Amino acid sequence: MKAVQLTNGFGFEELTLTELDIPTPGPQEVLIRMRAASLNYRDLVILNGLMPVDIKFPFIPVSDGAGEIVAVGPGVTRFQVGHRVAGNLQQRFIAGNPRAEVLGESLAGPLNGVAAEYVVLHENGIVRIPDHLTWEEASTLPIAALTAWSMLIEYGGLQAGDTVLLQGTGGVSIFGLQFAVMAGARAIITSSSNAKLERAKVLGAWQTINYSEVPDWDKVALELTDGGVDHVLDVGGAATMVKSINALRIGGTVSMVGFLSGLTIPEYDVTGILQKAATVRGSQVGNRDHFEKMNRAIAHHGLHPVIDQVFPLNRIGEAFALLAEGKQYFGKIVVQI
Ligand SMILES: NC(=O)c1ccc[n+]([C@@H]2O[C@H](COP(=O)([O-])OP(=O)(O)OC[C@H]3O[C@@H](n4cnc5c(N)ncnc54)[C@H](OP(=O)(O)O)[C@@H]3O)[C@@H](O)[C@H]2O)c1
Repeated sequence: MKAVQLTNGFGFEELTLTELDIPTPGPQEVLIRMRAASLNYRDLVILNGLMPVDIKFPFIPVSDGAGEIVAVGPGVTRFQVGHRVAGNLQQRFIAGNPRAEVLGESLAGPLNGVAAEYVVLHENGIVRIPDHLTWEEASTLPIAALTAWSMLIEYGGLQAGDTVLLQGTGGVSIFGLQFAVMAGARAIITSSSNAKLERAKVLGAWQTINYSEVPDWDKVALELTDGGVDHVLDVGGAATMVKSINALRIGGTVSMVGFLSGLTIPEYDVTGILQKAATVRGSQVGNRDHFEKMNRAIAHHGLHPVIDQVFPLNRIGEAFALLAEGKQYFGKIVVQI
């Protein structure tokens, strides 16, 4: 089978398309013919050796993918040959809140990822995908969609009529926009591109702000909402976190998801968190129960993930290069397998 590997070390130049034996599923494991994989910023950080996870070479990158079960090992009860499935990032995170014993066994760091024609996963680490989605669409669900869903709907308790602020038009934020619209919430979305903001309006954004033209987007959000938003999905990190708290209504929530602009805020004054009585909740993607619930909602609403570009597996380097450019896409980048 064909597989992408980092053979000896980190970096773009180490990405190799190689030929491997098809793996055999052991007890409670299934063999999946992967059909598509989607890229996340996390994959880029790991590719560049910048995430503190224990990677053993040769290593198969990319955590998110969808495919069809073609064989089951002894004792498998949850799935049958022919089921269309996707892996959950954290293979042992089945239910409840994040806790030490369920985080750590993540696909594509430290475990191998799914950029291969065949992948063996434990039956507890996969979910059925909605029938109406293509392989490419389904491959976008495990991190980007589940993070937005977990933070807004499950832990965030988003209600119809609430206001949500989303940052930029990458994978997590566009799913956040789609779920906010699905839930009957009002979505404000920011972007560095007016053309992308127009596309966000088509998806149902209530208000849009160009954060390059309007650096004080937090103040605009306060004015638009007459007192602040209920929820911010923060993907910017260092450059956005303080403004995210400022944009909240009293009692609002910031879901701390990403670090696109860096991780460190020098000399941060915590007064804003106190004055806003804010909840700041860190994200660790999501559990399998929430993934299954999200998929039911996606199926019920006929939601289609937003894909910017699809690359063949032998051009995965170009897909990563597009991801690395940062702002040249809208939604998700996908690789066909
Ligand atoms: N902790 C978790 O559970 C978790 C889960 C998923 C993702 N993440 C993290 O969340 C972040 C976002 O992930 P993603 O997959 O959605 O990324 P992505 O698809 O690569 O998002 C890229 C987009 O983010 C926007 N952006 C970049 N810098 C920004 C800034 N300073 N302020 C506002 N928007 C900015 C840009 O939008 P425009 O082009 O429209 O300006 C850019 O196109 C990453 O850091 C990722 O590692 C964390």
